Amino acid sequence: MHIKTILTQTYHDQNPGTSGLRKKVSVFKQVNYLENFVQAIFDSLENYQEKSLVIGGDGRYFNQEAIQIIIKIAAANGFGELIIGQNGLLSTPAASHIIRKYGAFGGLILSASHNPAGEHGDFGIKYNINNGGPAPEKDTLAFFERSKTLEHYKIAELPDINLDEIGTQSIEALKITIIDSVADYAELMQSIFDFDLLKQSIQSGYITLAFDAMSAITGPYAKHIFVDMLGAPIDSLNNAQPLEDFGGHHPDPNLIYAHELADLMFSDKAPTFGAASDGDGDRNMIMGKGIFVTPSDSLAILAANATLIPGYASGLKGVARSMPTSQAVDRVAKKLNIPCYETPTGWKFFGNLLDADKITLCGEESFGTGSQHVREKDGLWAVLFWLNLIARRRQSVLDIVEEHWQTFGRDIYSRHDYEAVESSIAQEIMSSLREQIQTLPHQTFGEYTVKYADEFCYHDSVDGSTSANQGFRIGFENGSRIVFRLSGTGTVGATLRIYIERFEPDSEKHHQDPQIALAQLIELAEQFC
Ligand code: G1P
Ligand code: ZN
Repeated sequence: MHIKTILTQTYHDQNPGTSGLRKKVSVFKQVNYLENFVQAIFDSLENYQEKSLVIGGDGRYFNQEAIQIIIKIAAANGFGELIIGQNGLLSTPAASHIIRKYGAFGGLILSASHNPAGEHGDFGIKYNINNGGPAPEKDTLAFFERSKTLEHYKIAELPDINLDEIGTQSIEALKITIIDSVADYAELMQSIFDFDLLKQSIQSGYITLAFDAMSAITGPYAKHIFVDMLGAPIDSLNNAQPLEDFGGHHPDPNLIYAHELADLMFSDKAPTFGAASDGDGDRNMIMGKGIFVTPSDSLAILAANATLIPGYASGLKGVARSMPTSQAVDRVAKKLNIPCYETPTGWKFFGNLLDADKITLCGEESFGTGSQHVREKDGLWAVLFWLNLIARRRQSVLDIVEEHWQTFGRDIYSRHDYEAVESSIAQEIMSSLREQIQTLPHQTFGEYTVKYADEFCYHDSVDGSTSANQGFRIGFENGSRIVFRLSGTGTVGATLRIYIERFEPDSEKHHQDPQIALAQLIELAEQFC
């Protein structure tokens, strides 16, 4: 194999955010841009020679082209085997599982998650380590540092590899293995959930289902699991064909972008259960007939009911939530007498806790839920968890949620996003908040008295690392909270996120519209910034 060393220009903007390097496709298509970043990653890693690397992506525009480039750079840098999803496709949770299952050194996942795709959309690349989870901050910082001084990359002179045929081929000492994108993942799901019960509940019509794959990666996974394995009718699936531009959808499963599903679930024709996933399959939106379950509530409900699922029958070690996620799961943890950890936004912070066996379930308010089974959040896993719960409890989603609120109280919750804010303005808002938090404690605003106000700084109890500047928390005496932080995944200007929550123990008051129930806090939040 002939290996060339290419002299390249250095880029200074390759700083990975909350979840890998995400940029407009046009940025990634600049000369040597992708090549540089991949080389910067490999230069920052050690002892991977002759080991295996998993490669796959969500199928968006530039996915296949990028994979061909990565194959050649990985070959030149001495990997022993490349394990690639058929046609270059792997959902993020499936990639995580495959890294773990095959004991790979790591993996490269090509995705910009829920950001729109296509020629004018976004592209992204993320490195995952051998536990299957996103590289920790010390690694992503090292990638960025290396990229700023990089002058050469190595590339093997190889023909393009045929990605559609399953099997292994060897090119000298390098093995290239194309695997079925779905099979390993489906088998993992079968080992966690009661597929016999699910099959019976679906085939008898007790559970009817609508799943929206938003023209992104989960279509083939959903078809295999829900239709082929569990017997759901094919018309339970919507937008199940992955498209390079995601059919022009914004594949972010929430009430705005998955409004077709939401409209259905609030109509007379609603099935018993509705769900959607995002571009790369790690997010989930859960709905029942006439109800939308907030991700924060979903995490709490899964934790409270986990022992009903075969894979979690022996109970939970602990739980974790990202800082802005509501405190609903904290109440469950307290009742179960298990630890509950508060981590910064981003899945990478759960990895150490999962590896050290300190937690079994974790989640984020941003439609991400997951467990020990992989080191990424997992959309279809969450969907199967809910289906398994409905089948076991023989109750509707609405009844399960309302019973949960009756037992634990309701954490009424909302997130407001201010997108494409000019960066300098966003920075000014953050500086001003930093000043204000000094004086806020003990001040009273209407019925809200500030108990604490701080800038969240996380101390990882496993590796002792510290992650500072993770957003501002303002907590009130009555348990309410306002959180401010800047997004780390946006690609245009800055996105300011404001998270608002209020605890309501009184079940007579559980049916309020969150925007009305939170109105005073929303006003306060706007006043602060
Ligand atoms: C967003 C979410 C965060 C999630 C990340 C990747 O990041 O808020 O919870 O982990 O996407 O899916 P943000 O844009 O807020 O930095
Ligand atoms: Zn995603």
